[in-house]
Amino acid sequence: MKRKILNFGSLNIDRVYRVGQFVRPGETISSKGYQCFPGGKGLNQSIAAARAGAQVFHAGTVGADGDFLAELLRESGVDVRYVRKTDGITGHALIQVNDAGENCIILYQGTNFDNDAAYMEQVLAGFEEGDILMLQNEINDLPYLLERGKEKGMRIMLNPSPMEEDIASADLSGVSWLMLNETEGCALTGETDAEAIMQELLSRFPGMQVILTLGKDGAAFGDGKRLLYQPCFPVKAVDTTAAGDTFTGYFAAALLEGMDAGDALRLAAAAAAVTVSGEGAAVSIPVRKQAEEMSKSVLTEG
Ligand code: RIB
Repeated sequence: MKRKILNFGSLNIDRVYRVGQFVRPGETISSKGYQCFPGGKGLNQSIAAARAGAQVFHAGTVGADGDFLAELLRESGVDVRYVRKTDGITGHALIQVNDAGENCIILYQGTNFDNDAAYMEQVLAGFEEGDILMLQNEINDLPYLLERGKEKGMRIMLNPSPMEEDIASADLSGVSWLMLNETEGCALTGETDAEAIMQELLSRFPGMQVILTLGKDGAAFGDGKRLLYQPCFPVKAVDTTAAGDTFTGYFAAALLEGMDAGDALRLAAAAAAVTVSGEGAAVSIPVRKQAEEMSKSVLTEG
C-alpha cells in the first residue's frame, strides 16, 4: 500500500528584509531591500516533500490574506483539501537576511494557532497506521498531535522548531524521526557537543532515528546501530531560509520511497544546497531533477 505524508503545519507570509548585519539592541537600521514570500516551516516542508515526489497532504489554517499560500501548495503538488481558512490574520514571519545569507526570524502565530481539536480529529481520520505525520512547532497543541499520532500508529517525523517550553515537556516517545539542529538538541538534552547530543537522545529514545543538522558542517544521522555523516554541498549562500525545511521534506520523501538513510541524507543535503543558493523560502525549494543534479556534484569536506 502506498503510504502518505500528512503535514499538520504552519503557513506563513515571510516579510524579508536584507540587511548588512542583524539589528542590535537599541539600534535602528535601514534595510537594503524588502520582499514578501510564502513560507512557514510546515508549508516549506510540504513543498519540499511534494517536489521530491511524495504524496503529501497539508493541514493548517490560513486567514483571509493567505489564499496564495494554499495556491502555492497546490501548484507544487500538495493536496490541500484539509487546509482551512478563518477570518483571522495569517501567521507571518519577520526575517532579516544578512550579507552572509544567514537569517534571524520573529514569528507572529496568527491563524497557525487557530487549529481546534475537532478539526485535528477530522484531518487525522483520513490517515492510518504507517502513514507519516510530519510536525514542527509553529502551530498550537503540538503535544496533542504527538499523542494522537502515536495512538494511531502513524510514524511521526518531528522538527522541534521553534524550540519552546511545550516541546521540552512533551512526550516524544512516539517520534520515529527527530530532525533538529544543535541549538535545539542542546535545549532538549543539556549537552553542547553534537556527538553527546546524539548519544543522549538515542539512549533516551531507543528506536528513534535522530538527524542532527550541523549548519555548514552538514548533518549527522544516528539510529543506535549506525552513525552516518553527510557533508554540505559547496554553494554560495544567498539566503539560508528554509534550508532545514528542504532537508526535512526531501529526507521524508526519500525514506518513503524506500531509499536507505545514507542515500536519503545525500539527496536531502543536495536539495538544501539548491535552496540556499536562491532568495526566499518556499520559492527556492528545488524540484527533484535539480536536487538530483546537485547530488552528483562534488562534496566539501566538513
Ligand atoms: O524555516 C524557515 C521558515 O521559518 C520561514 O519560512 C518562516 O516562515 C519561519 O517559519
